[in-house]
Formats: sequence, C-alpha cells, structure tokens
Amino acid sequence: MSTPPKGKLPLPELAEMKRRGEKIVMVTAYDAPGARFAEDAGIDVILVGDTAAMVVLGHEGTTVPVTMDEMLFLTRTVARAARHPVVIGDMPFGSFQVSDEKAVENAIRFVKEAGADAVKLEGAGPSLSRVRAIVDAGIPVMGHVGLTPQSATMLGGFKTQGKTADKARLLVQGALALEQAGAFAVVLEAVPVPVAAEITRRLTVPTIGIGAGRACDGQVLVYHDLLGLTEGHLPRFVKRYANLSREIRDALEHYAEEVRAGTFPEDEHTYEMPDEELERFSRGAAKTTR
Ligand code: KIV
Repeated sequence: MSTPPKGKLPLPELAEMKRRGEKIVMVTAYDAPGARFAEDAGIDVILVGDTAAMVVLGHEGTTVPVTMDEMLFLTRTVARAARHPVVIGDMPFGSFQVSDEKAVENAIRFVKEAGADAVKLEGAGPSLSRVRAIVDAGIPVMGHVGLTPQSATMLGGFKTQGKTADKARLLVQGALALEQAGAFAVVLEAVPVPVAAEITRRLTVPTIGIGAGRACDGQVLVYHDLLGLTEGHLPRFVKRYANLSREIRDALEHYAEEVRAGTFPEDEHTYEMPDEELERFSRGAAKTTR
C-alpha cells in the first residue's frame, strides 16, 4: 500500500508499544463525530466494527446481517474524520468466507473506497489463508479469536471461549497461526484471563482484549457500550464510563415539553428584521389581505 497520510499513527508503532509495555487504546466508532471524539481523546486505533449491525442498524443480538455496502459507508465517515488513529474496517459476515479471492477483493474495497488503513476478520482455521492472501495484497489485517460473534450460533451463543484446557490450547494455536499468517494484531474476545495472558506472552504482535483481562497489550470496547448509549443487557466485560442514553432521553423529553408548551423557541433563538423593512412588509401584507 501507499505511505500513510501525514499525522497517522504508523502501524508498526503498535508492535513497538507492546515492546515498550505501553497499552494500546482501541474503541469502535461508526460516524464522523464518534471518530473526532476518539481522535481528540488520543485513542490509538478505531475499529469500525460489524457491531454496527446491533448498535447502529437496529439488528437484535447478531452482527450477521450487516452488508459490505453498509460497512463501507460507515467506514468512509470514520476515515474522513480520523487523522491520527489507525482506522480498521471490520469485514462483515459473507465478505471473506467464500474464497481468498473474494476476501482480497472486499479488503481492497475497504481501503480503496472507504479509506480504511487496515481490515479485521474473525477466526483462525479457515480464515488463515484469507489473512495471508489479504496481507500478500499489501493490506494489514487484524485477527480476532475467542468469542467471534459471526459464528455465535456454532459457538453455542455469546459465551466465554477457551474454558477447558483443550479449548484454551486451540485458542493459543489459533492466535499464533494468525501471527504467522501476517496479522499485525489479534483481538481476544471473552477468553479467560490466564489464556489471554499466555497468548499475549507468546505473540510478538499486540493482543487487544475485550473481556480478556489486563494482561492484553491493549483494550477495545464498543463505543455505545462504554458511553452508556446501549440499553438493556450488557456483557460482564463492559464498563460504562457515561450514561448518555439517560441524558439524550432527558433532553428529547424536555424539548418536546417546551415545543408543546410554546416556550421554545425563545427570542434569543429567532431573527429580527430592520424596522423600516418590517413596516414596508406589514403595509404590503395589509394590502394583500384587503
Ligand atoms: O465488531 C466489533 O465491534 C468488534 C469488537 C467487539 C472487537 O469486533
């Protein structure tokens, strides 16, 4: 790929941060304001996650329905606003499962049409040749193991992964294989702390945890979850840093009340016109009503 735009966090810096023991901060975002807030907060990496299916597009309890075109649209809005953070486009279900060729084609669309710096895709095993093919095409890839929501049905639901010694060993192997396939980082989702710690110790590329404990090289949370925009049940691994849904509801209710009561808009929200123009206007209006 071409050189990154000026001011962009260079991708190899993430591995350097791991080496120096500096934590990597990643958050999801799905629009330009979210990207700007993340950038201004000094976030290192923005993931335009396929969680968009649930938190933006209104699909309940599944990331599967979001399409390539929807992901490209959202990624474009984020990439336009985020100058410093690395912007990663999350490859939706169906965009990489069919073949290496299809995966490369869709990864290219993320970079070329949406301005992403890199892509993420779920799974090890069958996904490894996809990772290799996309990296060979010059596009950086972030891996994702543990709870991989696109295969939630096969995994028996949104459940912690790697809880038996055999399954934990498979997770370690999967993460190592992703590094060997060329992934520049690996997301570990909903895996026990000692398993995440072992993977983090064995990989030279950074691990980014979500429900995987403090030993990971970085952390990611879903924007709507951490800001308290998501309502209803939240996974145990989410920490809410604000309660924006309450604030938004209060503000909208207050607005509706004031409109209905006729107390909004007030004079300070309105425009005046020069007195002589008002007089001429009133005279003209009087004529037309006669
Ligand atoms: O889609 C997403 O938001 C993700 C994160 C939870 C890692 O994959």
